[in-house]
Amino acid sequence: MSKPFIKIDGISFEYTINNQKTVPVLQNVTFDVHPGEYVAIIGHNGSGKSTLSKHFNGILTPQLGDIFVDGLNTRDGGLLREIRQKVGMVFQHPDNQIVSTIVEDDVAFGLENIGVPASEMKARIDFALEAVGMSAFRNRPPHHLSGGQKQRVAIAGILAMKPDCIVLDEATSMLDTYGRRDILDVVRKLNNDGMTIITVTHHMSEVAEASRVIVIEKGQIVLDGAPREIFQQHELLHQLQLDVPVASQLARLIHKYDNEYEADLIHNNEIVQEVIRLSAKRGVYAG
Ligand SMILES: Nc1ncnc2c1ncn2[C@@H]1O[C@H](COP(=O)(O)OP(=O)(O)OP(=O)(O)O)[C@@H](O)[C@H]1O
Ligand SMILES: [Mg+2]
Repeated sequence: MSKPFIKIDGISFEYTINNQKTVPVLQNVTFDVHPGEYVAIIGHNGSGKSTLSKHFNGILTPQLGDIFVDGLNTRDGGLLREIRQKVGMVFQHPDNQIVSTIVEDDVAFGLENIGVPASEMKARIDFALEAVGMSAFRNRPPHHLSGGQKQRVAIAGILAMKPDCIVLDEATSMLDTYGRRDILDVVRKLNNDGMTIITVTHHMSEVAEASRVIVIEKGQIVLDGAPREIFQQHELLHQLQLDVPVASQLARLIHKYDNEYEADLIHNNEIVQEVIRLSAKRGVYAG
């Protein structure tokens, strides 16, 4: 197996409130993220997903254990700039991530901060806006854009830094169905091109698109596997107050009445294919 891109090695983390009360959140969390993986992190409210995500680029550092990004320890303040160029974060609220009044200036903002020479800047902005399908908007004011378009600009700002990994913490939760679809398409394309993706989401149809799902509860990993494996554990997920994709619910239900019908389907198109397969087998026209 390839060398891990992010190594999370036995980390525990607690918040301290007013220098006294402590809120323990993460407890001895260990896992590796390999280059090119598409990892979805799920868990119910307050389970520690955002706290964990903020460790991936050194926004938070653990009290115990270590995180290594491409071999660099996030505890080392001198390495943070390099680490943050390797791992970019997209947050929930698109408005909070826009800093300029023109789209291309917004994408340039991070580049100026890291001292990218002006001669290289244009090529990087062109590449990043193209990758998210926003080239036609480069001279527009971002506040006129839809939520999904703003998130695409936020992602472009990160792509311009040429990261190896993007972490999305509920980046689609403020968006409508179209905006969400937009972002998912961009993320899928970036992953196909080799980018490592870590996404935190409550939308199970988004989780089904990942190559791996990590379920956390009370700051500990309770499940880690491929989406199809994870969604088979519907009783455990139910206990953890988590959903399964509608496609999984439907497939299980149909399987109950017709056990030739496959139960472990997680994508809508798999349902369609299964109906076509069985119809053909039974000589019924499926339209
Ligand atoms: N800055 C903070 N100071 C103190 N406690 C915090 C802070 N941020 C989060 N917490 C607490 O830490 C725990 C984990 O929070 P976290 O935001 O990581 O959960 P989450 O899984 O991302 O939740 P959600 O699904 O609501 O986004 C919660 O009990 C929360 O109240
Ligand atoms: Mg959160």
